[in-house]
Amino acid sequence: MTMPITQKLVEKKYSLYHKKINDALGKCFDRESPLTLYAPARYILEGKGKRIRPFLSLLASEAVCGSSENALNVALAVEVLHNFTLIHDDIMDQAELRHGRPTVHKQWNINAAILSGDMMIAYAYELALQAKSNRHSELIHILNDANITICEGQALDMELEEKKDATITDYLDMISKKTGRLISAALEAGAVAGNATDEQLQKLVLFGEKIGQAFQIQDDYLDIMADHGKSGKMVGGDVINGKKTYLLLRSLELTSGAEHELLNSIIVNKGIGADRVPDVKKIYERCGVLEETATLINRNTDEALTAINDLPHAEGREYLRGFANILLKRDF
Ligand code: IPE
Ligand code: IPE
Ligand code: MG
Ligand code: MG
Ligand code: MG
Repeated sequence: MTMPITQKLVEKKYSLYHKKINDALGKCFDRESPLTLYAPARYILEGKGKRIRPFLSLLASEAVCGSSENALNVALAVEVLHNFTLIHDDIMDQAELRHGRPTVHKQWNINAAILSGDMMIAYAYELALQAKSNRHSELIHILNDANITICEGQALDMELEEKKDATITDYLDMISKKTGRLISAALEAGAVAGNATDEQLQKLVLFGEKIGQAFQIQDDYLDIMADHGKSGKMVGGDVINGKKTYLLLRSLELTSGAEHELLNSIIVNKGIGADRVPDVKKIYERCGVLEETATLINRNTDEALTAINDLPHAEGREYLRGFANILLKRDF
């Protein structure tokens, strides 16, 4: 009989693998010169990243009866790629804080941030090529597809900032590209390292797309609702920048009168002063959008869990399910 996989066991594995991932990342980018190229890469990786993508890579390998050991370099590649996107995203979003510290372009400058990010992409591919696998071209193809899709998503994110009539459908498409694809690619690449079949890959990709969407909706929720300081980002950054989130688009439909006018001014003016963030937060709390957001996140997570019902390794599958539930409850 197999042992039931409790949330406690999932948390234990997460903290064990988190440490393994951090130890390995600590050995990356160890060249000293040029300092302005390598120090920013080390700096972002020293932040309090949750390491959810590399953890998913390791779990995916196990869920298809592969080893997490063989998937480690793939997991690192995905995490390095993710951190490159964060450095460039912070330039694009004019964000000054990440993990409670100055963003790379604030700590150094925009050119250093661009260049370090560029170097990290190439470094990620090198890590993937070092994976113990005879399926390197598939791995590179997955990373390329994810990288291109993230760029599409980020381009759509910026186009939506300008668009006055953005819909919830536009939003869902944009987040599945900017966030969903890298999460699904983390699972896909991890599973390839574990020598998965095509059918298993398809299931894991669907699982990743669904939790990826849920993850970004939760990120948008926490952007304004997280306890002060917990996200390590500027509270309300999304409304200040006029980002079209589910919270904003759906609450525009749920409100009328002065509340609707205030929300609409975020669209018309492409943002709002930081001093109005508490007013926006109050509207979100009153109009019912927070409950609808929770329902949407739960629905996506349920669909994700259904997708992996019959992966071959029962224990590995239960760890994936358990981790999806942990993500559901995250508060930073
Ligand atoms: C932040 O990702 C960017 C999004 C896609 C929402 P994470 O919340 O996973 O960031 P870290 O890695 O923990 O810093
Ligand atoms: C992240 O979206 C998208 C990326 C691909 C990096 P956000 O812009 O919401 O991420 P945070 O909130 O800055 O981490
Ligand atoms: Mg951002
Ligand atoms: Mg962004
Ligand atoms: Mg965000």
